This record gives sequence, structure tokens and C-alpha cells, in this order.
Amino acid sequence: MIKFTIITLFREAIEPYLKTSMMWKAVDKGLAEFEFVNLREFGLGPHKSVDDTPYGGGDGMLLRCEPVFAAIEFVKAKDPEAKVILPTPVGMTWNQELAREFAFHSGPCPAGTNARAAALRNAPNQNANSHYIILCPHYEGYDERILAIVDYNISLGKYVLTGGELPALIIIDSVVRLIPGVLGGETSAEIESFSNGDNLEYPQYTRPEDFRGMKVPEVLLSGNHGEIAKWREEHSGTSLL
Ligand code: ADE
Repeated sequence: MIKFTIITLFREAIEPYLKTSMMWKAVDKGLAEFEFVNLREFGLGPHKSVDDTPYGGGDGMLLRCEPVFAAIEFVKAKDPEAKVILPTPVGMTWNQELAREFAFHSGPCPAGTNARAAALRNAPNQNANSHYIILCPHYEGYDERILAIVDYNISLGKYVLTGGELPALIIIDSVVRLIPGVLGGETSAEIESFSNGDNLEYPQYTRPEDFRGMKVPEVLLSGNHGEIAKWREEHSGTSLL
């Protein structure tokens, strides 16, 4: 069972996706659990404020430490082992290798622990009880001291989004789909694009054989499994998917 606790002010932006398709199936099969914590409940004062202006001046508002620490400590009081992920444009760039580490090994090993990482790689399905807390900042930034309670800073890429909700969904989706039993065919996540790093999948076709003059390669219709495997090997990495 993999569990994600999402700390956000905008649950409604995230929940519909998690109630759809594969993410919902993962929950239904008991393979994943999603939980929401409303950051506002940990806000300060009568207005339950979670942000404030930056010291030294500047535009915009920053997420304050107190509500964030209180919300994370609330979750950790029930599960001290839970690891905290902060989506931020200045974090480690998310990729398939990281998704696998989170799916199978409770997150990437710290630097210098290659032996342990290798051992874990040879013993997949170590994710028996992984629990990740994803903190979704939603203002112009956050107080730097928040990083003290964060285990992983994750960037989706070199661009800036308005909040952590979209990154949270991308992280969750790309991790949960790797959990054995989530996708229809047990092995489809393993054999498809990027599963072993960044090797790309071969092109695939379904009916019809001829669509507006664009034909399915003859070999794929031949029934010759050896030839098909050879063709796929030769063409791996050419799909645009
Ligand atoms: N929050 C804002 N921009 C982001 C990005 N590119 N990746 C992760 N979190 C973010």
C-alpha cells in the first residue's frame, strides 16, 4: 500500500483526477490511499492566515512556517516515517527513475548509498508501506525555513506554475501507475517507455490496417513472433509517445 497525504488549500483542484480511472482503481484495489489535509485549518488568527509579506520587501506573499510545520507535524504524529515532498521549481527534476525510486524504495537513497540502492533495486516491491506527504505551496513562494521539514524538493521542469497541485498530481500518477496490479496487464508498466531509464518504446498500431493510406508495417501482421521482436528492437526509441 502506498499512501499520499496532500496538504493543500485547493483540494477541489486535485481530488476529481484521483477519483478517475487508474488512480481510483488503485484505491479500489487497496493498492493506494489518498488523504487530504486542509492547510487553512492550521492558519493563524481569526482569518486562518497562511501567508505573509517578505522581510526586506518585495512583491507577493510567502507561505509561513507555522501553518506548514503544524500541518506536517499533525500527519507525522500518526506516521513518523512519512516522507515530505515539496514541489518547487528549484528541486530535483522529476523523471521516470525517480518515480521508480518512490514507487519501490521509499524515495531515492541519499548520496553515497549506492550499494544500498543497488540492493534495493534487486529486491523490488519494497514499497509495502510507503507514505508520502506532498505539501502544495500556492503563493508566490515560501519561507525558506520550510525546507527544514522537507525530505525531497521536486521540480517538474524549468518553468513556474502557480501552485503545487499540478506537480502533486503528476508525481502521484507517475508513481502509482508503477505499483504492480494498478495497470491492467501486470507487466505493461514494466515494458513500456522509460521504465528502465529513458529507453523509448517501439511504435505500436491497432486497427485498421490501412488508415488514409498510412499502413501498418507488414511484419506486425505476419504472426512471426521472432521477426516482430526483431522489428520492435530495431525500432525502439522511434515512437513519439
Ligand atoms: N511549483 C511551481 N512551479 C513548479 C515546478 N516547475 N515544478 C514543481 N513545483 C512547482
